[in-house]
Amino acid sequence: MHPSERPRRLRRDGLRELVSETDLAASDLVAPVFVDATTDERVPIESMPGHERVPVDDAVERTAEVLETGVETIMLFGIPESKDEQGSRAWAEDGLIQRATRAITAETNATVITDVCLCEYTEHGHCGVLEPGVGGETEHSDGDQEADLTVDNDATLDLLGKIATSHADAGADVIAPSGMMDGMVGAIRTALDDDGYDAVPIMSYAAKYESAFYGPFRDAADGAPAFGDRRHYQMDPANAEEAEREVRLDVEQGADMLMVKPALPYLDVVRRVDESFDRPVAAYNVSGEYAMLHAAADRGWLDLEDVALESLLSIKRAGADVIVTYFAEDVAERL
Ligand code: PBG
Repeated sequence: MHPSERPRRLRRDGLRELVSETDLAASDLVAPVFVDATTDERVPIESMPGHERVPVDDAVERTAEVLETGVETIMLFGIPESKDEQGSRAWAEDGLIQRATRAITAETNATVITDVCLCEYTEHGHCGVLEPGVGGETEHSDGDQEADLTVDNDATLDLLGKIATSHADAGADVIAPSGMMDGMVGAIRTALDDDGYDAVPIMSYAAKYESAFYGPFRDAADGAPAFGDRRHYQMDPANAEEAEREVRLDVEQGADMLMVKPALPYLDVVRRVDESFDRPVAAYNVSGEYAMLHAAADRGWLDLEDVALESLLSIKRAGADVIVTYFAEDVAERL
């Protein structure tokens, strides 16, 4: 008895490329860049090998390094010189993201996406202004009064609008709100349109989960909540149907691109969003996904280049059009 189907026939070198279903290109990748107003030297980020926080004066040079690898788009994150209760440095005209964006868009051809959130700018590290919380003692609050505070959704929306227009003023190509506030896309769309930025697209973090995989990023951007966690605004990892609802709301409010975050543990969500909505889908291959591959490779347990490439290919195969990843430069150089 011989098998009647022989899929192996097409796996020969020369043929396997011909029938390959998924292509990864440098132009699909977005490299996160961290600018830091508290330093005049580059500072390595320990838990994210190969990544650094760079001073604002190095933002152009850092962007040029990314462009050299073939990656055309960066996503800017900032560590401000000071923080306050409201996060007011986030929308300052002379804020570090605003200054970095002006310099980068004036001196390079990079496409600049700016992260719009308050967690790096507030003293308490939450993604908006605070109000008394849902109340009651929870297993997470331990009766601690601070932990009973939560983010005031609607007061935060006004601030997000101000941040977004200040980024557009500085020349940002795409605005990426990541705070998971209800109505954030609509509020930002209105603010942008009112200021004449109707051509600036919004890439919404539409389905962002309350994930333990953000650990290394919170070191990198110094944005860990001082108390409590983000479970009152970011999504429950248990929910996929709810992701469709979150994404639908963002589409209705005018989101141009839809992001799912993290990527690898949520490929089912990436697939659902791709199938259910006619907008480009982005996936954020987050800091923890990056750090764990590095840690295993350091021990000689995995081949870093191979697992990085396979990870990104899997994210595309699941349905992502765009991948935000700390591997962008390394992988692009090998494509
Ligand atoms: C800010 C923000 C976070 C990340 C991107 N934007 C952190 C968070 O929500 O705690 C995480 C990125 C990563 O882990 O790579 N809201």
